[in-house]
Amino acid sequence: MATQNSQSELGTVISTMEGPTTIVFSFVIGSSKVRKGQFVKVKSDSGFVLGSISEITRANRYFERAESVAEYERTSPMTESFPVTDWEYVVANVRVHGVFESEGTNSIVRNTFPVAPGAKVLACEDELLKKFLQLDDNGLNIGKLQHHSLEAKLSMGKLLQKHLAVLAMSGSGKSYFMSVLIEEMLERKSEHGRMAVVVIDSHGEYSGFRATQYGKQTEVVDAKKFRIAFRKVSPQMLAEWMPEMSATQFRELVPIMEALRKERKEKHESYSLEDLMDRIEAEMADKKKDNVKRPLLAWLSALRSMRIFGPVDYPKLEESVTPGKLVVLDLSDVDNMKKKQMLVSYLCRRLFKLRKKEKVAPFVLVLEEAHNFAPEKAERQHALAKGPVVTIAREGRKFGACLCLISQRPVQLATTALAQCNTNIILRITNPFDIKHIGESCEGIDSSMLDSITTLRVGEALVVGEAVGSPIFVKIRRRKAEFSAKGKDLELIAKRFEEEKTKKKQDVEAFL
Ligand SMILES: Nc1ncnc2c1ncn2[C@@H]1O[C@H](COP(=O)(O)OP(=O)(O)OP(=O)(O)O)[C@@H](O)[C@H]1O
Ligand SMILES: [Mg+2]
Repeated sequence: MATQNSQSELGTVISTMEGPTTIVFSFVIGSSKVRKGQFVKVKSDSGFVLGSISEITRANRYFERAESVAEYERTSPMTESFPVTDWEYVVANVRVHGVFESEGTNSIVRNTFPVAPGAKVLACEDELLKKFLQLDDNGLNIGKLQHHSLEAKLSMGKLLQKHLAVLAMSGSGKSYFMSVLIEEMLERKSEHGRMAVVVIDSHGEYSGFRATQYGKQTEVVDAKKFRIAFRKVSPQMLAEWMPEMSATQFRELVPIMEALRKERKEKHESYSLEDLMDRIEAEMADKKKDNVKRPLLAWLSALRSMRIFGPVDYPKLEESVTPGKLVVLDLSDVDNMKKKQMLVSYLCRRLFKLRKKEKVAPFVLVLEEAHNFAPEKAERQHALAKGPVVTIAREGRKFGACLCLISQRPVQLATTALAQCNTNIILRITNPFDIKHIGESCEGIDSSMLDSITTLRVGEALVVGEAVGSPIFVKIRRRKAEFSAKGKDLELIAKRFEEEKTKKKQDVEAFL
């Protein structure tokens, strides 16, 4: 592995059928320090050509012909009879990322001329790599770059200016990575600019932050206590939440709602869902209107049964979403999918609206299980939150509203939202459909990287996109505050269950 600032020679560029070209070259390895994924440099006229090793091949003339190897090995191992190790050679293929112009501008430009066969390949030292990858000393430290001692400190601006997607199969470390990123966000100093983090936590994995050193900055909102002030609900929102409503029914509803709103506003009074239902009942007393009134009232009463409307919003986002704070909306106790989607839909709309008016801090909205809230293919009644999520994806970056979509089913995630994610953090994925989809939807990933995704270990990630100058593999660092997510550790749950059973039995026996 390359050590810090090592200028060590790794090998010599060779002439092959494929290159050197401006995009690839190969070199024969003269050092045992070479690894797949490692960054290397070759001196050229204008500076240094930078690339990363995409594959390594090991060859030996002695073992090329199957029949002779089989024949020789029948009597005694070839390694004993021939100097086979002297004939082994190793070739690395390099993908070129650009040229670092050492003179004048100190910038990275596209490579327009191949490196020379015979040129020496050197390990890329950390300082150069840092510049090339546009890492930032005050950035978010997510872990270590693979094969280098460099810390992957991503610039917050580049990472969160546009949106972020974290994609991987179940159990490969998506939520763990997100917790690491949240720690970094919470530790930022205000002189470097801080954002608020709002997490829509489907499985109660983030509420543990409250019991850590970040507890003071954390607010956990139990979804059961989440309340929507009904007077802030517009007819359009109702239409979204009652997708069965026809255009005619909507036309009837709007004036009734508007009249109620106007009347109460003049009196500086609020109104509730029940008030609206009473009003509809009164306005449509005529029997002829029954076919409009009945279904409207039925849907509204279904909404009422969700118990999410109240006189005022809870939590009050203006007070909760402040710089350097974490707000977790814990949805783990809500079973009703429609209710979850309504909460997310309202939260997205409200947050974005307040952000546009500068009433809340610039924020990152982390959406776990994003494919449930912004599905690619689903009927309207199963995608109540898709509209608001896509709106933030489309327009958010102008206002400092960043989305972080987390999903183990990238294929099912709305492409309109995914396409807006300029940085992708990809952890282990083995499903070929998902791999193919990622290859198509993420720019800058080549086929050898796609192959590597299947071999990643838990906690290893490929970072591609705006946040880095070139795709990198990162070993995600350990969390500073370890806590186990609610209901995660099966062994622990099983052990505790049994212990409690035994204890109860003993108590009963002792009593008798
Ligand atoms: N970088 C890491 N370092 C150490 N352990 C890790 C790392 N990443 C993940 N793990 C371990 O792997 C386990 C699974 O990770 P995590 O819960 O983040 O997966 P996930 O992708 O969110 O899964 P799911 O799709 O089920 O939500 C964690 O409990 C943790 O113990
Ligand atoms: Mg998870």
